[in-house]
Amino acid sequence: MCGIIGAICETNVTPLLIEGLKKLEYRGYDSAGVAVETAEGLKRVRAEGKIAALEEKLAETPLAGFSGVGHTRWATHGAPAERNAHPHKSPCGRFLVVHNGIIENAAEIKRSLLPAGSVFESETDTETAAHLLTKFYDGDPVAAIARTLSVMEGSFALGVLCADFPDTLFAAAFGSPLVAALGKDGAYIASDAGALPEAPEEIYSLKDREIVSLTRGSLRFYNEKGEAIEKTPAQVRVQALSVDKGGYEHHMLHEIHQQPEAVRATLAGLLGPEGIDLSGSGLTEDFIKNELERIVIVACGSAYHTGLCAKRLFEGKARIPCSAEIASEFRYADPVIDRHTLAIFVSQSGETADTLAALRLCKEKGAKALSIVNVALSAIAAESEGVILTQAGREIAVATTKAYSAQLSVFYALAIRFAALRGAIGSAEEKALTHALAELPERIAEAIDSTKQTAETLAGRLFEAKDMFFIGRQLDEAAAAEASLKMKEISYLNSQAYAAGELKHGTISLVEPGTPVIVLATQDAISAKTRANLAEVKARGAFTVAVTTRALAPAFAEADEVIVLPDVCQWFTCSLAVVPMQLLSYYTAKRRGCSIDQPKNLAKSVTVE
Ligand code: F6R
Repeated sequence: MCGIIGAICETNVTPLLIEGLKKLEYRGYDSAGVAVETAEGLKRVRAEGKIAALEEKLAETPLAGFSGVGHTRWATHGAPAERNAHPHKSPCGRFLVVHNGIIENAAEIKRSLLPAGSVFESETDTETAAHLLTKFYDGDPVAAIARTLSVMEGSFALGVLCADFPDTLFAAAFGSPLVAALGKDGAYIASDAGALPEAPEEIYSLKDREIVSLTRGSLRFYNEKGEAIEKTPAQVRVQALSVDKGGYEHHMLHEIHQQPEAVRATLAGLLGPEGIDLSGSGLTEDFIKNELERIVIVACGSAYHTGLCAKRLFEGKARIPCSAEIASEFRYADPVIDRHTLAIFVSQSGETADTLAALRLCKEKGAKALSIVNVALSAIAAESEGVILTQAGREIAVATTKAYSAQLSVFYALAIRFAALRGAIGSAEEKALTHALAELPERIAEAIDSTKQTAETLAGRLFEAKDMFFIGRQLDEAAAAEASLKMKEISYLNSQAYAAGELKHGTISLVEPGTPVIVLATQDAISAKTRANLAEVKARGAFTVAVTTRALAPAFAEADEVIVLPDVCQWFTCSLAVVPMQLLSYYTAKRRGCSIDQPKNLAKSVTVE
């Protein structure tokens, strides 16, 4: 949520800032702005809306200089208007500030500053930081930043320009992501290392109220008291963010097609010559066999949905008690966890605030913390005892597709190995499942090819619907949850996911003649029950679509439309069932004229609680 970029270099900084902001636009697109140290002093240009609007303004009012900061906003405090766009100015005009996060005590800070005559020009929490900098400044910007940080509560990453130090850029962070990097051509800060303009020679992640001052060739770090400290550079390979759509009309469609590769690359790190190899995960066989009593999977949104699927496998197949938990609920629920609990945190971005807080809670309670993340240089990866990196490549579309699929593939590997180690399956079955898992990327590719046309045609039939339902049982319920989220987040169409057997306990009253009900039915053992649920909604006039396997297709022939998935092992059906649903959401959103890659009110990385 909100993206910060800052640079100090030997060429005009404005184009670098704009390029960086375009890569960070996934973090919010309510407004954008840049501030540059120009020959006439500090200047800023801001615009409501996307980076393109800022570019238009900059064409009329160009800014040129060697140091600057930029910001793309996801509104928390104050409407998405230009007056609330960053950078924010201190009352004296000496400081310009960009901020990501939330200053939770902004209202109190504001109240404390008003008696001294402070006048605020925005409704943002960020402006209070700019005012505090003025209040605490006595010629030393690092000391002023340290004192400002000591007053602020919440989570934040700040980029600061100070008119008295035109050759220096300042930054600080607490709880919100920020990297500082040194490259061949300059020094940089960014909310996401993937937005840096060049491959860094040194890169550092800021945390714990750390402050950095950057000049063209140096980075100096300070602690929360403003005392100089040494930091060790992070040893990670930075994955550059790309704005390339691979020839597709949208990032989302590109990323749907990248799923086989994302799963293949992820599995390559887990499938060794002897079978599934979890040695890089920090989990020992002894722990899995003898100490593990319970698994909790904690995540948000689609990542949580992968947990719903994994729960069925860990519990139903590996026979290990397991629950999937929404991070924002779990962290306040005083959960029963101890050193016999394996807590698994799933996050594409690796920086979702609630998931990170839940991770810290589980560690405090002594659980073993394993994370499944897609961004190596992220807080969740840094703070977990064990990390399995999904290799989906950077995901740009706000609606996740390839990261979701990559996360599921990690869970399959874990579930198979856990089931074998706990004696729930024999070695022959483990081998067969592992073999089937290795072939999953091809099956996903087939699912994309074989269902794309039907999904597009169906979207033409469904795009004007008022409500839509996705139902399924067991693993299909988990896939239905993801299908429904995809539909509502990008097409703005009201959709709900339900356990198929639960519909008649209330929700079926919403089914009217023509209401689309998508029935996911891939599980042989319970298909007869799901078929009965299809009949119930059909009897009430629903327009029904069955998403099913070749073997079950005849049983679901009464559906108005049947989507047949490629054959795959029953454990992995979520990965295939979701594909036509992603495509259906995509084409529905397209027919409805929605902003597919950047849906309204959303941002890709949710760093506020
Ligand atoms: C939906 C979507 C979100 C994320 C959720 C968690 O398409 O992308 O629901 O899954 O915000 O984000 P991460 O995985 O970054 O923790």
